[in-house]
Amino acid sequence: MSRVLIPYATTEGQTAQIAEVIAGVLRERGHDADHVDLTKLGDTLPDGYHAVIIGASIHMGKHDKHALEFVRKNLDTLVRLPSAFFSVSLAAHGDRDEAEGYVDQFEEESGWRPDKIALFGGALLYTKYGFIKRHMMKKIAADKPGDLGLDLSRDYVYTEWDAVKRFAEHFAEQLETTPA
Ligand SMILES: Cc1cc2nc3c(=O)[nH]c(=O)nc-3n(C[C@H](O)[C@H](O)[C@H](O)COP(=O)(O)O)c2cc1C
Repeated sequence: MSRVLIPYATTEGQTAQIAEVIAGVLRERGHDADHVDLTKLGDTLPDGYHAVIIGASIHMGKHDKHALEFVRKNLDTLVRLPSAFFSVSLAAHGDRDEAEGYVDQFEEESGWRPDKIALFGGALLYTKYGFIKRHMMKKIAADKPGDLGLDLSRDYVYTEWDAVKRFAEHFAEQLETTPA
């Protein structure tokens, strides 16, 4: 049994939901998994974890700054542990090259090369955004590839939950087969 920390940085909550699903898969496999919002965790990676999966969403072409700061601060620990990073964006749904570019930039800025990387589609939560954000997001969605939804009276979730579960299963398998 391994203890896995899943710190995530979210603005509208989609990355939190993904972190929760990953934690659920790891627990089903008998591991101890804690998913924690980075704004609550603080800037130091707590002792006692055997592996770390960090998640962050994209806004205006950048990963959440809390994730970047956390990785920079804890780089020495992260390079010693089995690790993974998942990036949540609309680009991951319609424009994989752009989504990969975001991760390349994150790796460059943080100096971290996680063992495993995943790109997950995010959500367009029109009904939860304020007026300005709703209309701005509709314009962005109309200009982006991926046939993104434009109906402001509903939300669109592009996260492929099966892919999230497979990512978590695969990470767990590697933990289970790698000698401590
Ligand atoms: C104001 C705003 C800006 C965004 N900018 C981008 C962007 O530049 N590229 C992209 O692929 N997705 C962008 N997104 C989509 C988010 O990555 C997506 O909504 C994701 O689900 C947010 O995750 P979170 O709820 O965990 O913060 C943006 C979303 C919002 C609301």
